[in-house]
Amino acid sequence: MSDTLLTKLDSGVLTLTFNRPEKKNAFTHAMYEAATRALKDAEGNVDVRAVLLTGAGSVFTAGNDIGDFMEHPPAGEDSAVFRFLRALVDADKPVLAAVDGPAVGIGTTMLLHCDYVVASERARFHMPFVQLGLCAEGASSLLIPRTAGFALASELLLFGEPFDAATALRAGIINKVVPDTSLQQVATERAATLASRPAEAVRVTKRLIREPLRAQIRETLAREGGEFIQRLQSTEAQEAFMSFMSRGRK
Ligand code: COA
Repeated sequence: MSDTLLTKLDSGVLTLTFNRPEKKNAFTHAMYEAATRALKDAEGNVDVRAVLLTGAGSVFTAGNDIGDFMEHPPAGEDSAVFRFLRALVDADKPVLAAVDGPAVGIGTTMLLHCDYVVASERARFHMPFVQLGLCAEGASSLLIPRTAGFALASELLLFGEPFDAATALRAGIINKVVPDTSLQQVATERAATLASRPAEAVRVTKRLIREPLRAQIRETLAREGGEFIQRLQSTEAQEAFMSFMSRGRK
């Protein structure tokens, strides 16, 4: 599909691999577009029974490309990042994720919309929105308080410090932690199992689980998105981005 998003369909499992390892799989505009297209195509393809998200090179993703944020900031609800998030929220087929290494920003918040997440022991989660002068996104402001409770949700989102897989499990963001060397095998097995279950029963059950909150999630995405777009233009965010981009050049 594109070099930075690899797709592979095997035994009903469509694996989408974020593939920009030299930049820790940071998401560009093109990657969001390719991932959105792949998720939408999967919905209409009877051969796809489950989708598995993963990252190349022992990294899930470093989140949005910060250079892209500076050069092509999302301008409205129709921006690539928001279309990607809505495609994930609207997916009726089961979506799984295998998380190795860093899962930063949207790399953590996209997991809230997955149906099964397995992480390696060395996985590191991070929502550094406040440090970057930004705000919660991906409906994390709605969903993390629900999965983790207000105390832990506030800690993870306000301090914005990295946390380990055991904390992600406690926060209800992931399902299972496995040794680093077992990650791909366990994730592939779980995806294959879901792909082998009666497809319509899986679809209806997922919808029953997700549908009651979908309208509220879409509304939260829009509200967070409006704040996020304004924050991107703030001096706080611009200074944080400049500081990240000039690391190592000082
Ligand atoms: N946007 C743009 N480039 C990024 C990036 C991002 N989000 N994350 C990493 N990169 C780039 C680095 O600039 C570096 O590029 P260079 O080799 O041209 O200098 C390369 O990827 C490797 O990153 P580096 O920081 O050296 O790797 P690391 O193993 O020390 O750390 C991370 C990995 C993911 C912990 C760290 O890169 C990081 O914190 N990235 C920023 C994440 C972030 O804030 N995302 C936005 C959330 S909204």
